Amino acid sequence: MMAQDLLTITDLHRAELDHLLKQAERCKRSRTLGARTLAGKTVALVFQKPSMRTRVAFEVAVLQLGGTVIYLGQDDIQLGQREPINDVARVLSRYVDGIVVRVFAHRDAEEFAACANVPVINGLSDLVHPCQALADLLTLQERFNRLKGLRLAYVGDGNNVLHSLIQGCAMLGVRVAVATPAGYRPDPSIWKAASAAARASGGSLEWMADPRAAVRGADAVYTDVWVSMGQEAQRVKRLAAFRAYQVNAALLKLAKPRCGVLHCLPAHRGEEITGAVMESPRSWIVDQAENRLHAHKALLMLLFNKHG
Ligand code: CP
Repeated sequence: MMAQDLLTITDLHRAELDHLLKQAERCKRSRTLGARTLAGKTVALVFQKPSMRTRVAFEVAVLQLGGTVIYLGQDDIQLGQREPINDVARVLSRYVDGIVVRVFAHRDAEEFAACANVPVINGLSDLVHPCQALADLLTLQERFNRLKGLRLAYVGDGNNVLHSLIQGCAMLGVRVAVATPAGYRPDPSIWKAASAAARASGGSLEWMADPRAAVRGADAVYTDVWVSMGQEAQRVKRLAAFRAYQVNAALLKLAKPRCGVLHCLPAHRGEEITGAVMESPRSWIVDQAENRLHAHKALLMLLFNKHG
């Protein structure tokens, strides 16, 4: 049985992740599936950072599952400033039935979950972005009708999106090649654990500095912004470091002819990806964004059917 919370993809067992992805496909086919799952329940969104996809997809997911949602932005709560996380988590738990948090520091999501008495979902922290990875895996699964053995290339920054992506892919047997500049590799402990999980699942995880080596023969190529929220002061340095890591038409020539392109959005056209690639038939990016909704619904159904 899974933990009450979803702070990282690894909070899910393999069977639960398989189930969640299949359920998300069913949610996509039938908008009314699980329409009473959250009847009489309220979910709060406590966000320290801006969001379009995560916020709207969760709000719509809760409404389609019959619940009520309350959005609490940074000006409303001032998490850790106006009052400590401990008090916010305990008091909110008396009012609502589940909480989605978007925080700067991952330890704040952990503290929030430890203090809350209702399910807590991580809607992005500096370490991981598990809800994004659920949609990423769903997008690959619906395109290929399988995940095991797929070759996924990730090109760019070794960030929170990549961490959750490699954790999920490692559980499901995807073969992942990651190209980042040497100074921007993923977190070593996440990498080590994901490598072990990949070996166990029949997948693989390789790092390389050369984006061309990563993309060669790929079924799909994934990229993300070079300057994430909170890193604005490093912008000039980062743009220089990542210049050779743009996903463009020349790079994609090395991938399989029908290779798709993924991006968690928002995108910076002309930096990590060209506008032409974004708008090309190879781009699965808007489908991927849509899949946030279906993945969130499946996640809420999993958490609330167990804990509701
Ligand atoms: N991909 C993603 O998390 O988008 P938002 O920041 O708009 O939620």
